[in-house]
Amino acid sequence: MKRFRVAVLANLKTNAPVFEGMSDDQWDDLDSESTVVSLVNAIKEGGHHAEFLEADESIIDTVRQFKPDICFNIAESHFGDSREAQIPAILEKIQIPYTGSKILTLALTLDKPMTKRVLFWHELPTPEFQVFERADEPLNDDLRFPLFVKPSREGTGMGVSGKSIVNDERELRDQITEIFLRYKQPALAERYIEGREVTVGLVGNLDGPAARRLPHDENLPRMQKGLHFFPPMEVDLEPFKDSDVVYSNRLKVDLADQLNYVCPAPLDAEMVEDLNWYAAAVFRVTGALDVSRIDFRLDASNNWKPYILEINPLPGLSPGISDIVIEAAAEGIDHHELVNMILDTALRRYGMK
Ligand SMILES: Nc1ncnc2c1ncn2[C@@H]1O[C@H](COP(=O)(O)OP(=O)(O)O)[C@@H](O)[C@H]1O
Ligand SMILES: [Mg+2]
Repeated sequence: MKRFRVAVLANLKTNAPVFEGMSDDQWDDLDSESTVVSLVNAIKEGGHHAEFLEADESIIDTVRQFKPDICFNIAESHFGDSREAQIPAILEKIQIPYTGSKILTLALTLDKPMTKRVLFWHELPTPEFQVFERADEPLNDDLRFPLFVKPSREGTGMGVSGKSIVNDERELRDQITEIFLRYKQPALAERYIEGREVTVGLVGNLDGPAARRLPHDENLPRMQKGLHFFPPMEVDLEPFKDSDVVYSNRLKVDLADQLNYVCPAPLDAEMVEDLNWYAAAVFRVTGALDVSRIDFRLDASNNWKPYILEINPLPGLSPGISDIVIEAAAEGIDHHELVNMILDTALRRYGMK
């Protein structure tokens, strides 16, 4: 087997800039040193030469110095509306291969409203919504309370708490204003889906030419060919029902070790098949590559109909903590194997393996 030079590109929390007026969850979606060390070690165990490079603006020089055959990219970047696309843009400019989705997909999927427009266009189920750029924009007639209000372009439950569920005009306006102040971006209001919290992780690439289009016959096998689905995971929010009925920033960051992750989720085979079909469809229409995790809510008021909340093309990869790591483990795939699965998928895509 060929031994590749692999640069792990990430943004460490400890290296992140500090600025005045910064909110305390500002860098919650960046990575810890231990995660990055575990990625480097996993890739070394896979038989390659690996090194971590901080994915800041020094990357053009450090990457050229290290001369990787491929980069293992999990960089979220710091600033800008399409920040997750910045490192891929640099790597394409200097023609270095990298794992995971490309510029367009990372820019699109960081923007939840844009992604939802694409999902709606393909008639994929995602909650009805409205984007607010001003606090006094009138609410559309077709939206009914309760609504769920969150930032348009964040992750890791940032800006998501019990207050995200709004029951009337006053709560709606308060929450929109709060998002403007804290996150300086449009607020996304969605129909609130009361129900279960499920997420599906996958590794692979679609076979066949229909990227960004759904085939007319939804039963065609090529719809999912080339993708490996991990068993779906449910986050059991029942113990927190008095404080957090949603997967909030508090749960994801402060209480992560107290959460009950149920994997495989107790769902019947038909539901799992539906979720995988939707996951593949979202992966396809957003043009994602190599790996992703798709978040769903199952609607308690409508026979547990699945609604797509978002696709995460850069899912967290912290050993023992991140959702997709737990899902792989439920299938007997440990962290080191998962990391090498992602790397090998990208190497095959580039014809390097
Ligand atoms: N429309 C909604 N209805 C009910 N809960 C929601 C809705 N949107 C988000 N949530 C809750 O907030 C959490 C975080 O939202 P999500 O869109 O996945 O953003 P993030 O990027 O922070 O993970 C979800 O896992 C879910 O618990
Ligand atoms: Mg999510």
